[in-house]
Amino acid sequence: RTKYYKVDSANPDLTVLAEAAELLRQGRLVAFPTETVYGLGANGLDAEAVAGIFEAKGRPADNPLILHIDTVEQLNDLAAAIPASARALIGRYWPGPLTVVVKRQSHVPNVVTGGLDTVAVRLPASLTARELIRLAGVPVAAPSANTSGRPSPTTAQDVLSDLEGKIDAIIDAGPCAIGVESTVVDCTTPVPTLLRPGGITYEMLIEVLGEIEVDPALACSQSIPRSPGMKYTHYAPVAPMFLVESGADYAAFILNREINGALAAGHTVGAVVSAEMADSLPPQVIASVYGPRTDTALIAANLYTALRSFDNKAVDVIYAEGIAEQDLGLAVMNRLRKAAGYRIIRE
Ligand code: TXA
Ligand code: MG
Repeated sequence: RTKYYKVDSANPDLTVLAEAAELLRQGRLVAFPTETVYGLGANGLDAEAVAGIFEAKGRPADNPLILHIDTVEQLNDLAAAIPASARALIGRYWPGPLTVVVKRQSHVPNVVTGGLDTVAVRLPASLTARELIRLAGVPVAAPSANTSGRPSPTTAQDVLSDLEGKIDAIIDAGPCAIGVESTVVDCTTPVPTLLRPGGITYEMLIEVLGEIEVDPALACSQSIPRSPGMKYTHYAPVAPMFLVESGADYAAFILNREINGALAAGHTVGAVVSAEMADSLPPQVIASVYGPRTDTALIAANLYTALRSFDNKAVDVIYAEGIAEQDLGLAVMNRLRKAAGYRIIRE
């Protein structure tokens, strides 16, 4: 059975968090909110507990986990070296949706790092997350709290629909504010490398670093990813999805053309679209609106809920409308491409 705790995100009950922290210290699995998505936590220094995360999620063992800490100083206990780029990023964006990859110390368990000589570390902004980590007194290993391959969870209900009965507890603090995962930056390369776009935008990274390399796996699905997590199907709704990436001028025409083709073939069609687009679709389409086309922060916040909304609807195929890759749009498009399994219509 999964224990359910409810807390106020602005004023979390510390006796509740102390109970959950005690579970973590005992080697149990506790799902908890962060500002990005819900995480599935375990004591990051307890290899057996961390192995339980992989088991509960059905996650491939070579996909390493992020260690979550609650003070900047704790990075000194995990990193073998902290490059200047990492210091600059941390100084500006911690606590927050930023994960840095640095050389690890040898006591960091292999099960956390997937056997790599690096470790990914993040100091979340969420008060609930930080207090939980502080009370646990250990770094907390946590991937997103979804079944591997599914859209990440942004509510406690999402977590329970994937993992109820497979984890020991969940802390519900309401929906996550950002809605897409943290930005992952490899700080061990001469020029830091963006491995996963996320809550800290590309523009914000450039502001601090001046330049950044982009992992080729982000641009092209064929190349070999440096971040092990990038090579698996991810974020996918149950029905196959196609992503339309044409510019805003033609998007309505192309989406409607594709959707009408699918309807004519007798399919039940779902669509993940902007508010502007929703009005132009045939009425029999089951539309899930992610927000106004230019509000990338709102689209990010709604994205996974929109993808999960088809779980209990019998659609045969889903069409998604792409957005511009500015600000949080870069992270949104990265997730949409992966959710579509790179079935992209570009015209
Ligand atoms: O927002 C987030 O980052 C959430 C919350 C819970 O903090 N966590 C999360 O974890 O998204 P996960 O496991 O779903 O994604 C972690 C990503 C994966 O793409 C993984 O491959 C990468 O970080 N990663 C972890 N350790 C790494 C390492 N040592 N080198 C390169 N990539 C690493
Ligand atoms: Mg994940």
